[in-house]
Amino acid sequence: MKTYFITGAAGFIGSNLAKRILTEEKNIRVIGLDSVNDYYDVKIKEYRLEELKKFENFVFIKGNLADKECVENIFKEYKPEIVVNLAAQAGVRYSITNPDAYIESNLIGFYNILECCRHYPVEHLVYASSSSVYGSNKKVPYSTDDKVDNPVSLYAATKKSNELLAHSYSKLYNIPSTGLRFFTVYGPAGRPDMAYFGFTNKLIAGETIKIFNYGNCKRDFTYIDDIVEGVIRVMKKAPEKKNGEDGLPIPPYAVYNIGNSNPENLLDFVNILQEELVRAGVLPKDYDFEAHKELVPMQAGDVPVTFADTTPLERDFGFKPSTSLRDGLRKFAEWYKEFYM
Ligand SMILES: NC(=O)c1ccc[n+]([C@@H]2O[C@H](COP(=O)([O-])OP(=O)(O)OC[C@H]3O[C@@H](n4cnc5c(N)ncnc54)[C@H](O)[C@@H]3O)[C@@H](O)[C@H]2O)c1
Repeated sequence: MKTYFITGAAGFIGSNLAKRILTEEKNIRVIGLDSVNDYYDVKIKEYRLEELKKFENFVFIKGNLADKECVENIFKEYKPEIVVNLAAQAGVRYSITNPDAYIESNLIGFYNILECCRHYPVEHLVYASSSSVYGSNKKVPYSTDDKVDNPVSLYAATKKSNELLAHSYSKLYNIPSTGLRFFTVYGPAGRPDMAYFGFTNKLIAGETIKIFNYGNCKRDFTYIDDIVEGVIRVMKKAPEKKNGEDGLPIPPYAVYNIGNSNPENLLDFVNILQEELVRAGVLPKDYDFEAHKELVPMQAGDVPVTFADTTPLERDFGFKPSTSLRDGLRKFAEWYKEFYM
């Protein structure tokens, strides 16, 4: 029996990952930890957890990653072989008003995971990093070989710190670890703090949505199932443990981008979203979108084009995200209709 420990199991990516493992794999159990905090609508987290609690080999623990004893007890009791750390305080703007949450979850929490992986050896530690580590780098596509020493938010700084901490633990204690830099993930039961979700809420409320740089920004939007597929492939193939010429272990450490590598124009994204919201019956057929859309200049610090170089992911795991915006936004719109209306 293999034991997976997923932190952030009530979160968007964690719940989808847990569900896929529980549905497809035999002889496994999934231990999920989440504090179920109220950074966004808790009802969505409860909805995701209800889906997971239908599986009898799912164990849910409500707790805080920053509580060392709580995390240690989980490792002691369940001895997970695979750890996927997805719990974190996300969001860039929230870090201006709530910096403590980032230090607590993303730094102390991650440190607790590392310490446990040191004392209760695991086959593989996979953890979420973020495309935000690229800061305002100009060169695209973003490659894991690029320099990422200039974070422009506290959130990005904590994610980059995770990669550094993981490297040192991989080197010192030979812990196989892989960091995954996710690029804007979207889909059903996604995060309400993200643009596509916020746009939808605003359009329904009859408010106006602001589209920066007149819609001429290009972004990688990555559908949730592609992210889950990527995490599963990576999770099962830990970086190899090898010794260098000096006889000392070479850190079994890796970092990959997971993104669509096919940047889409923000305006196209909004247009497809509109069409799919109408198709799903979230908005009426005669909705006047033009009256609820404001094209505005770029915000300071915004980058016009960002997207992922996923060559290493393709090379090592034979996988590249491929879900189209049309298919992905259709699933989001249909879920939204069912959940809220
Ligand atoms: N969704 C994206 O577009 C995206 C992009 C890049 C990186 N990421 C990273 O991927 C991971 C998962 O993201 P998500 O979109 O599922 O976010 P999410 O907010 O939906 O999920 C994170 C979960 O972690 C929980 N959590 C937070 N702090 C905790 C703590 N101290 N103890 C226990 N639980 C805690 C939250 O309650 C939440 O349910 C995060 O690390 C995030 O930073 C996400």
